[in-house]
Amino acid sequence: MSPTRVTAFAPGSVANVAIGFDILGFSVDAVGDRVTLTRSNKPGVNITSIRGVVQDLPLEAEKNTAGQALLALIKMRELSFGFEMQIDKGIPLSSGLGGSAASAVAAVVAANAMLDAPLTRIELLKVAMEGEAVASGSRHADNISPSLFGGLVLTVGIDNPRVKQIPVPEVIHAVIVHPHLQVSTKAARAILSRTVNMSDFVWQTANLAGFISGCYTNDLDLIKASLEDVIIEKQRQVLIPGFIDVRAAALEKGALGCSISGAGPTVFALCLERDTRAVRDAMVQAFAAHHIEADKWIAPVQSGGAHVVSSE
Ligand code: HSE
Repeated sequence: MSPTRVTAFAPGSVANVAIGFDILGFSVDAVGDRVTLTRSNKPGVNITSIRGVVQDLPLEAEKNTAGQALLALIKMRELSFGFEMQIDKGIPLSSGLGGSAASAVAAVVAANAMLDAPLTRIELLKVAMEGEAVASGSRHADNISPSLFGGLVLTVGIDNPRVKQIPVPEVIHAVIVHPHLQVSTKAARAILSRTVNMSDFVWQTANLAGFISGCYTNDLDLIKASLEDVIIEKQRQVLIPGFIDVRAAALEKGALGCSISGAGPTVFALCLERDTRAVRDAMVQAFAAHHIEADKWIAPVQSGGAHVVSSE
């Protein structure tokens, strides 16, 4: 018999990774959201509680990322039953750590564990993307894919997404610094120019190709040379007071690269494991010099994706 009550965890994520706007991201399982679903004879989705570090989110399923993702799953499978949903938020609101994606992913992973004929992971990705669209105003998978699959993940395509988990040299770790500010993803997308300068396009394309090739070939020098966003970061850095100093501090302590996590305001750096503490401390101090407090994490880039925590 399929379980009737399931809790799933989905990790946070760093989207874009400097050079892969809307297509690249890695999971951060130091933070994450949990969703508990109970099977209900009443069709649809009833959100009964939202707890944790964020509580002020819509209870109407259509306006909630996890609710909308679940509704998309119900529609895809034409389920005759519904779900009661509790959301436990571990990811701060508008932090740039993929909180809306994680809630959507946790919801569909929990629901999937209750189905006699489960969805494939690509189908789960598609329904979770419907949820993400509620939060950001557009469908993109660079938070959803890493949260669902784990590790560094490239997603090619929207309607028919292809996903590739990219091996990252084990020596590379991430430093994640979350300043106590909020940046709305919709607003951070709205400020972006609709056009890209040709030379920036060439440079960014080379950087994305160089970074991914470097990951596959363990070429730390190529990874370092490539990990630079020449298109998005310069437009968004105004939303994060102190960003320029934080980035400079990370690079000065030996980071391979440092940029905005997703739409911000979280900033991430990739560095060799031995440099992580010095990079983290320098980044936090640079925010402090701007009178901004920050949370911080050091995490491997290779980590697991969403999973069921309990079922009964
Ligand atoms: N790629 C997205 C962005 C991530 O940077 O706008 C946030 O949803």
